[in-house]
Amino acid sequence: MMRLTPKQLPWLKALLHLACALPLCWLIILVMTDNAGGDPVQFIIHYTGKGTLNALAATLCVSPLARWLKWPLLIQCRRLLGLWCFAFGVLHLLAFLSLDLLFAWSMLLSEIVKRPYLVVGASGLLILTALALTSFKAAQRKMGRRWQQLHNWVYLAAMLGPVHYFWSVKSEIIEPSIYLGAFILLLYLRRDRLMRWLSITA
Ligand code: HEM
Repeated sequence: MMRLTPKQLPWLKALLHLACALPLCWLIILVMTDNAGGDPVQFIIHYTGKGTLNALAATLCVSPLARWLKWPLLIQCRRLLGLWCFAFGVLHLLAFLSLDLLFAWSMLLSEIVKRPYLVVGASGLLILTALALTSFKAAQRKMGRRWQQLHNWVYLAAMLGPVHYFWSVKSEIIEPSIYLGAFILLLYLRRDRLMRWLSITA
């Protein structure tokens, strides 16, 4: 079978950066050319929300793929995908706060009461923030065993993201169900680790 060599790794990383950056460029083009639908604010919020979820799914695909293809070097692509996921999540939050709420902080509480799924999304993003901030080699070295324990929280983020999505939609059911199913599968692939993590944190 084909192998991923250390020489090819930078090319693969560049390709993945491109694959994550292009959808953002596409969003900017759509908005600038008035092609973002009848409600561009909702369009941007939905687009970046999906982007967060897609990047999270891609991040969670890395280790099963690395094992299946026997490409241990692939693991080195995980951090960049995780950071893109965080970037999409921050853009999603900023789009909501600036374009939807217009920074009317006083409305935040009533919005949360009206839309409780916001708390689920915010909890997911909080986890992604902690993971992004500690994703550096230096943090990994300094934290030792605690690093793995913290980064296992990605499992919870992987449950909160699809639940937030499912809860937020009004009528559509097929697409959120596909996402939910895909994330359940991604978690099932690492069920041993997940069960161990659940028994430690419980
Ligand atoms: C503080 C954090 C977050 C806030 C305030 C937030 C807010 C929102 C809002 C207002 C919507 C639109 C719902 C509507 O149609 O009325 C939405 C949808 C969505 N969010 Fe979030 N969210 C957050 C975090 C996240 C995270 C972490 C993820 C993914 C891991 C995510 C994924 C999605 C998805 C997939 C949608 C639906 C897109 C669609 O319907 O096409 N969100 N979110």
